[in-house]
Amino acid sequence: MKKPLWLVTGGAGFIGSNIVEELLRRGKRVRVFDNLSTGNMENLAPKGRFEFVKGDLRDPKACAKAMKGVTYVLHQAAFRSVPKSVDNPMAAHENNATGTLNALMAAKAAGVKRFVYAATSSAYGECEVFPQHEGLPTMPVSPYAVSKLAGENYCRVYARTFGLETVALRYFNVFGPRQNPESMYSAVIPRFMELLVAGKPLEIHWDGRQSRDFTYVANVVDGNIRAALAPSRVSGLTINVATGTNISLLDIAHELEKITGRKTEKIFSPKRKGDIRKTYSDIRLARRELKYKPLVKFPEGLRLTWAYFSAKWGKK
Ligand SMILES: NC(=O)c1ccc[n+]([C@@H]2O[C@H](COP(=O)([O-])OP(=O)(O)OC[C@H]3O[C@@H](n4cnc5c(N)ncnc54)[C@H](O)[C@@H]3O)[C@@H](O)[C@H]2O)c1
Repeated sequence: MKKPLWLVTGGAGFIGSNIVEELLRRGKRVRVFDNLSTGNMENLAPKGRFEFVKGDLRDPKACAKAMKGVTYVLHQAAFRSVPKSVDNPMAAHENNATGTLNALMAAKAAGVKRFVYAATSSAYGECEVFPQHEGLPTMPVSPYAVSKLAGENYCRVYARTFGLETVALRYFNVFGPRQNPESMYSAVIPRFMELLVAGKPLEIHWDGRQSRDFTYVANVVDGNIRAALAPSRVSGLTINVATGTNISLLDIAHELEKITGRKTEKIFSPKRKGDIRKTYSDIRLARRELKYKPLVKFPEGLRLTWAYFSAKWGKK
């Protein structure tokens, strides 16, 4: 009998490529589906043997081809940026809402055993009750968050109404190796590191006291594999995957000063549209249902990330 086949959509991106690496390390059979819009093959470079299918979620035929023979889907592919979605709400909707529905339809038709979805803490948006647990109302404030929440709701409907096992994992600001630092839309940690290496001041939108439950990528990888293999009772659930801590942008700058021994200068600019003040996760449901616990805490994750980027840039 053939080994189960794992499909990682968005496998050439930041989180997806970290998942692929871990699956291959565990000896799994892996297929990657990606349109290479923000991902690239370099992320997958010498990681082992896997199958690559180039295609787009917005194309139902491409989704059907990708799902053939698949046992587990870890659906990471998305149009992933709050500011980009403010500039282009329709692109966010088509990739994230319609694209996820296409993937679910194809997964159901192909007889997939479990479909795990990369959902996001931005679903909580302006709901300022902390720590944030899955029973709170969703109050998205960006087109990105709306489109990702639509995908999450489609997952629940596919579990309840169509009998496909699904689990949605709400990630909270993920960081780590292979995150893209090279654009104005970049996430804050690789961007800070890039500025630091270039000897430039750290640019902080808002006052720097906005805070996030920054989660090192290995924790999210582990959460995905656990969600795929957990007992069937998890089907239809939405589960936070984070560390249960709360770090501000000023805290990151301070930690980076400790790690690198360099003093950081800071310049402040106005808040960006769609930004929220705070995320801070309650991870009790993940602990109970997935036996999840954060493997790598924030300071250690930041050290590992710095080691990766400084080695990479040192070689340039
Ligand atoms: N990075 C975070 O902090 C974070 C937080 C919460 C949720 N998420 C979710 O995690 C997932 C992965 O995010 P990431 O940070 O690795 O982003 P990323 O941009 O690095 O990866 C996304 C991948 O999907 C591919 N892709 C995009 N649109 C596609 C399409 N229409 N068809 C096929 N492939 C497509 C891209 O080429 C890329 O390889 C996303 O679903 C995102 O919404 C990320």
